[in-house]
Amino acid sequence: MIVIGFESSCDETGVALVSTEHGLLAHALYSQIAMHREYGGVVPELASRDHIRRIVPLTRQVMAEAGLKHGDIDAVAYTAGPGLAGALLVGASFASAFAWARQLPTIPIHHLEGHLLSPMLAQPAPSFPFVALLVSGGHTQLMRVDGVGQYELLGETLDDAAGEAFDKTAKLLGLGYPGGPELSRLARQGHAQAFALPRPMLHSGDLDFSFSGLKTAVLTRVKAICQGGAKLSPQNQADLAAATESAIVDVLATKAIGAIKQTGLLSLVVAGGVGANQPLRARLQTAMHTLGGQVFFPPLEFCTDNGAMIAWAAAQRIQAGLVDLAKRDAAFSIRPRWDLRDVCLDGA
Ligand code: KG4
Ligand code: ZN
Repeated sequence: MIVIGFESSCDETGVALVSTEHGLLAHALYSQIAMHREYGGVVPELASRDHIRRIVPLTRQVMAEAGLKHGDIDAVAYTAGPGLAGALLVGASFASAFAWARQLPTIPIHHLEGHLLSPMLAQPAPSFPFVALLVSGGHTQLMRVDGVGQYELLGETLDDAAGEAFDKTAKLLGLGYPGGPELSRLARQGHAQAFALPRPMLHSGDLDFSFSGLKTAVLTRVKAICQGGAKLSPQNQADLAAATESAIVDVLATKAIGAIKQTGLLSLVVAGGVGANQPLRARLQTAMHTLGGQVFFPPLEFCTDNGAMIAWAAAQRIQAGLVDLAKRDAAFSIRPRWDLRDVCLDGA
């Protein structure tokens, strides 16, 4: 079966084609980062309008790349949530119209399920069960994944997400948007030991996180340096960036390894935009190697939002028998706030 998938939950328009037999056939992505940069963050209304502009050309592009005709498609998947309501509506309504015109089934996908299963797009792919560290701009969660639709929450952030901590601190340091990659780039020129920043909840004894205090701690350091009208020097900036990255990576890695030890599993999967962070990758590689386990990362292009993970998650759901392929429904809905537990199988 061939599934076309649409992602439009935030500031990336993604379209992809996945075959249940042959895997990923083609994918295309348009990132709105340059457009939002001017405003220092995502402007929801602009995001929705841009999804409208991009979704048709991207669809044509993947169809041409895969050498397929519309008649070759068997099912249409789209991100139904969580995300920005207006942005989600573009993908959901386009996907539903596409499906209705050809009398195809639609498959609403939970964005985080897309991220969770995205490491399987790479080779070698992890096999179930595994622990997943989901680290995006909106979420920080540790999950036990036993199969498609079988997700158990082990721990999560009580306030800001890890990506948010990167982005907010970067903004505070006067860096561009999105802050994560910018802060990480600058951190390479700094000394993490120059500032002693807190590691929130490092020793809390559970697998939960808290990042909001970190940005306050950085703000306190910035205010102290800038007292009396002084400016942050480039070295101050780089040192604060390095100290922030080191604190976030330390907490994420410690808790992820804590989850591995708690579950006794030896496979760790890292998904979501922060999974692109090189020091986090290096730290987890070493830690898992020491434990005799393995860590899996999606290819960088699939770490951040993309259509491939949505089409892929739908294909996995089809193969697991979780999709009613006979159902044709012109009605669609979006879930801007949506708990991943709602897409879990009963008893999972
Ligand atoms: O998964 P994603 O693309 O979108 C959401 O669903 O949120 O994640 C975006 C987040 C942003 O907060 C961005 O700053 C962060 O991922 N990010 C990074 C890096 N690349 C992206 N954070 C740290 N280091 C990176 N290299
Ligand atoms: Zn995402």
